[in-house]
Amino acid sequence: MKNILLKNGQIYINDQLVECDLLIVGGKIEKTGMNIPVDETAKTIDCNGLQIIPGGIDPHVHLHLPSPAGFSADDFESGSKAAITGGTTSLIDFVTPKRGQSIVEALQHRRKEATHSFCDVKFHVSPVEWTKNTEQEIIHCIQNEGIKSFKVYMAYQSTVGLNDKDILKVMKVVGKHGGIVAMHCEIDEIIEKNRTKFIADWNTTPKYHPLSRPNKVEADAVEKAIELADKAECPLYIVHVSTHEALDHIQKAQSKGQPVYAETCPQYLLLDENLYDQAFDKACKFVISPPLRKKEDREALWQAIADGVIQTIGTDHCPFTLEQKRKGINDFTKIPNGAGGVEQRMSLLYSYGVLQNRISLQKFVEVTSTNQAKIFGFKNKGEIKEGRDADLVIWDSDSKNIISAETHHQNCDLNIYEGFKVQGLPKYTFVNGTQMTRI
Ligand code: URP
Ligand code: ZN
Ligand code: ZN
Repeated sequence: MKNILLKNGQIYINDQLVECDLLIVGGKIEKTGMNIPVDETAKTIDCNGLQIIPGGIDPHVHLHLPSPAGFSADDFESGSKAAITGGTTSLIDFVTPKRGQSIVEALQHRRKEATHSFCDVKFHVSPVEWTKNTEQEIIHCIQNEGIKSFKVYMAYQSTVGLNDKDILKVMKVVGKHGGIVAMHCEIDEIIEKNRTKFIADWNTTPKYHPLSRPNKVEADAVEKAIELADKAECPLYIVHVSTHEALDHIQKAQSKGQPVYAETCPQYLLLDENLYDQAFDKACKFVISPPLRKKEDREALWQAIADGVIQTIGTDHCPFTLEQKRKGINDFTKIPNGAGGVEQRMSLLYSYGVLQNRISLQKFVEVTSTNQAKIFGFKNKGEIKEGRDADLVIWDSDSKNIISAETHHQNCDLNIYEGFKVQGLPKYTFVNGTQMTRI
């Protein structure tokens, strides 16, 4: 592996941009400083006018996710290539065993699938039932498999969801052994009641998807998750927060000192619920859970990022093709839930966050990388420091693009950000010191 010198970049070190060089040796950041000497065998890249930031960490992706409509459209190979193109160098996906299957066996299987990834992949592990083995399997994952986070679903009770009693049991074990519970917060009972009624009344189009999952569905679940985590003395990470009411509960818990972290996603910051009010082929790509919300929710989410109530931006990357989405053409409950965004996360955040003065560059780096590394315990990632993995993005803040399914690298014919203009894109991305892209 050749040594690489990144020359004259504006490097994001200790929360500020410093104009200097960065030397990569053996996949690690060897050194930063002025005029670092190298011999003629090193490769030198001129980074003049470019910013060098830590590689992005997307804490929430579903690659090759099985669903009744088939697998999500990106597998580990295509999804990781798209991620890298967009400046993301680490992904956190999920291990979701089938009920009756051992958690550890499911983890091993998922790790095999992820060997096709071009970037680092870690996992949240989901207990989908409580059996006589669950406690020991969780402890084994923490102590022997390097797993820190356990994802629990309040929604999807018929397949992967846990009831409150079992959530509490999971939280107690995870908390006691130094892990963190990540939670999909939606009250399943309300959703199912609404869906059954809508379909019985022939209200079958995508616009009934958000109506079946109003803000209260998320807010009540978040309130409950916080209560359970407090009782169990377990740190809590709430995934894909979408409502201002949920933020109120999170902020209240944080202000009391409870370890509660929150993630949101670009779709909840940028897209409006009126997008469901279109013909099926246009609306179906926005069928995601939780659904898109209103302007007041988006404004509250941006403010919560700026205020530090939200720590991370993930994508919940889970794309399905138009053909797959059409499985629900006569019944919105059969539309596979999910959309892609792993490739667009960094540039959307930069364009609509940093360049529109909603967040600082420091916050951009924190929420796209540093905080994820801290919360999930990736000691070698998330910051530009000597000895850390050389996961780096050489960011061109002038470069522009118009997002489109025709040109993106995600393996899907749909893109929920179709037509969005972005400014700020990676010019080169390094994963563990290897140069992966040149756009
Ligand atoms: O619509 C979504 N988010 N699909 C992926 C699974 C989940 O709920 O996170
Ligand atoms: Zn979810
Ligand atoms: Zn998800």
